Amino acid sequence: MSADPGRRPEAELLTRHLGRLGGPHATGVAAVVGAMASAAVRIADALARAAVDGRTGGAGTVNVQGEAVKKLDLWANDAVRDALAATGAAYLLVSEEMEAPLELGGAGGYVVCFDPVDGSSNLDINGVVGTIFSVRARSGRGPERDAVLPGTAQVAAGYVMYGPATQLVLTAGAGVHVFTLDRARGEFVLTQPGVRIPARGRTYSINEGNTAHWVPEVAGFVRHLKAIDVASGRPYTARYAGSLVADFHRMLLEGGVFLYPADAAGQGKLTSGKLRLQYEAAPIALVAETAGGRASTGTRRILELEPASPHARVSLIVGSPEDVALAEDFYAQRH
Ligand code: AHG
Ligand code: MN
Ligand code: MN
Repeated sequence: MSADPGRRPEAELLTRHLGRLGGPHATGVAAVVGAMASAAVRIADALARAAVDGRTGGAGTVNVQGEAVKKLDLWANDAVRDALAATGAAYLLVSEEMEAPLELGGAGGYVVCFDPVDGSSNLDINGVVGTIFSVRARSGRGPERDAVLPGTAQVAAGYVMYGPATQLVLTAGAGVHVFTLDRARGEFVLTQPGVRIPARGRTYSINEGNTAHWVPEVAGFVRHLKAIDVASGRPYTARYAGSLVADFHRMLLEGGVFLYPADAAGQGKLTSGKLRLQYEAAPIALVAETAGGRASTGTRRILELEPASPHARVSLIVGSPEDVALAEDFYAQRH
């Protein structure tokens, strides 16, 4: 057989990686993540074909968050739901696109919170979107309690990013690993093992259009990042894709800070923040912390928050540890 210089012959497949997980949750996590990966392959294909298949545009409904739902949000929700249901490992699902938590009949003991399509505003412009997932072991206190577990209960988390390549980023206890979909084989291949977030970066990511709604602490922090100081690498550069997955992924690999802060009281309508704790902030926080980063509301560690409801929103500041710590200094009036 002739060697293909373009392919890494030794690269580990996600299926093999999952088969080698250790610890008490190895089997359940392998089943859940395997299902997420197979749903992701279908979603990647549906995204690529959406315009041709007439699957762009709105579904004509709003979700529990009051946001307009796109056809692909619903299609992807069902793809993930069906893949998880088939494993028997997940007993409870919390999805952005399902108003109430869904109890599956299976015997498995895992709760899966997911955002089927993250960054839906990018769907109709062929922009980058993602799928975010968070896996928790059942608490033994019933589905009502399991539908609102803190991020510290996560036994695995990650996301899929549908860009020029489809990549799956996973943490299942030991490290953060990036797998890339080899479309020809329909398999995810380990391409970046053991990713570490740089201690600080030179990039910030925030919706600047919301400046009028910012609390003074955020305004002060962003002003600081934009001020000239050659020694500390300022001004930072701005990047904003409008998809948490895409914006966070840049921070994971290159360092920097992503913010979606709560609006100032009386200023905007998102005074609790925009992003959802259980299937956006908490899984991204677990990936960030496992890679050496930090995730905060500005005043509290994301992973320790108790969700008030399945779809609770939260202020999120995540990325390089020194950059997030500096943002926290602004919140604490230490800077
Ligand atoms: P979703 O598409 O799942 O509702 O998530 C969108 C989120 C997140 O991906 C992104 O960081 C943020 O909303 C963008 O919001 P703005 O358009 O308000 O900047
Ligand atoms: Mn989202
Ligand atoms: Mn979504």
